[in-house]
Amino acid sequence: MTQSAGSIRFILNDRDITVTSVSPTATLLDFLRLEHRLTGTKEGCAEGDCGACTVLVGRLANGELVYESVNACIRFTGSLNATHVVTVEHLAAKDGTLHPIQQAMVDYHGSQCGFCTPGFVMSLYGLWLSKDNPGRADIEKTLQGNLCRCTGYEPIVKAAEAVASARPDALFDPIVKMRKEIIAKLAAMRSPDTIRLSDGDASLIVPGTAAALADLLADHPTATVVAGSTDVGLWVTKQMRNLNPVIFINGLEELQSIHETGDGITIGAGVSYSAAFDQISARYPAFGRLLDRLGGEQVRNMGTIGGNVANGSPIGDTPPPLIALGASVTLRSKSGPRTVPLEDYFIEYGRQERKPGEFVESIFVPNLPDDDHFAVYKISKRRDEDISALCGAFRIALDGSNQVTMVRIAFGGMAGTPKRAANVEAALMGKPWSEETIKAAQAAFEADYKPLTDWRATAAYRMLAAKNLLLRFFLETSGEKAELVRFEVTA
Ligand SMILES: Cc1cc2nc3c(=O)[nH]c(=O)nc-3n(C[C@H](O)[C@H](O)[C@H](O)COP(=O)(O)OP(=O)(O)OC[C@H]3O[C@@H](n4cnc5c(N)ncnc54)[C@H](O)[C@@H]3O)c2cc1C
Ligand code: FES
Ligand code: FES
Repeated sequence: MTQSAGSIRFILNDRDITVTSVSPTATLLDFLRLEHRLTGTKEGCAEGDCGACTVLVGRLANGELVYESVNACIRFTGSLNATHVVTVEHLAAKDGTLHPIQQAMVDYHGSQCGFCTPGFVMSLYGLWLSKDNPGRADIEKTLQGNLCRCTGYEPIVKAAEAVASARPDALFDPIVKMRKEIIAKLAAMRSPDTIRLSDGDASLIVPGTAAALADLLADHPTATVVAGSTDVGLWVTKQMRNLNPVIFINGLEELQSIHETGDGITIGAGVSYSAAFDQISARYPAFGRLLDRLGGEQVRNMGTIGGNVANGSPIGDTPPPLIALGASVTLRSKSGPRTVPLEDYFIEYGRQERKPGEFVESIFVPNLPDDDHFAVYKISKRRDEDISALCGAFRIALDGSNQVTMVRIAFGGMAGTPKRAANVEAALMGKPWSEETIKAAQAAFEADYKPLTDWRATAAYRMLAAKNLLLRFFLETSGEKAELVRFEVTA
């Protein structure tokens, strides 16, 4: 058992909280509802999908106070040091006057049974605090992670539009009013020292630096590292797993920066999807469009690209585009860092090129030359907030006579790991970029992949879709319309 040291300190609405003993798998949702009776935050799915449990978590990022919507059901209490947790109870004034967002939901009939309403209000509050005059597309993106069974969404979107132009500097807002005080408190709560708490035999550790994390993993190589907890949260709420010890790394600023160099960008393993979005979209627009369809806003605010790589999932969305772009991953341990091409990191299902004691430190993504064609296609049953049945990333370079001079194609959902299509690539390399070449290359998918049948798609569907995505890529890069693609599942 780990000796306790320090405490987890955060602000809950307008109260200072100090936690000196907590289970490493205790969720923020239970903390709010069971310990503080803040029952406005609801439990719907307990797996990050429905948004009924949405709260805001504020933190200091580069000295700025930023608030993000998160799913309290899969966020662990141990991950909250130096944050401000804001629940729906904090919004109305003491005299009961509703916050303008709440009032708009009333005025536009945005609530019926009401179960989802606090979650919608909190998601919209996060948007209201972070963006002036959001448009309909911003509102829809913000609400991807909030499900409502009753309203049909239009009244909620209308309420959001009505309140969009109300300025967040209005003095009725509890966060705007207390901003300076909150910043000072959060700054005082941060510490480079490692926090160790226990609850019976179970313990959690919050390292203050990346070097401390390396030391801890040398001592506890089987510890569970938790970054955004959008995977690990479900191990607890759905699989009822006991994790011990747990090391929370979401507060490590050293893992949260994006460095631009002449050659490309280095993304710290702790950078969330939301934080990476602008730079990824600017450099690799097709990758940015994929991120828009990864989870909902709350999942993108919590989940990290490092976690998506580290988990080794065959259906993670970022490995295919990262591999097609030629990315590499830097792994770090007490004995130092080492870098491997990302395509070599995934060895087989459940096995990655990561030794005991190592953690993912960063991912380097090279620049995409202006003339290269690059596309990413995600195939899932729903457009928003759904895991891929398959996800394909395509990149080619053509010379002046339309011959393929470089090709990288990678798929998720087609094998036990994210994997390059080596045979398809060989069938394209050096050939004219023509429909005839594509037709011949489509057959090579059979040599590259033996996909599974599961509840997301049959093996035959996956194979046919992969072949047709190559044709789609050809049609799009040749200025044709993608609607020409025909789907026929024969097996
Ligand atoms: C509702 C919902 C929707 C989702 N939709 C999608 C989707 O559309 N596409 C998709 O790809 N994924 C999706 N996910 C899965 C998830 O968001 C991603 O896999 C995410 O990137 C995991 O990152 P994390 O920081 O939350 O990882 P965690 O849950 O914190 O950790 C995941 C795994 O990685 C390990 N780990 C994390 N960081 C490190 C590190 N730096 N070094 C070593 N090990 C580490 C952990 O030990 C664990 O094994 C969804 C999840 C939810 C809940
Ligand atoms: S309860 Fe559904 S997302 Fe948390
Ligand atoms: S109002 Fe009933 S679920 Fe949304």
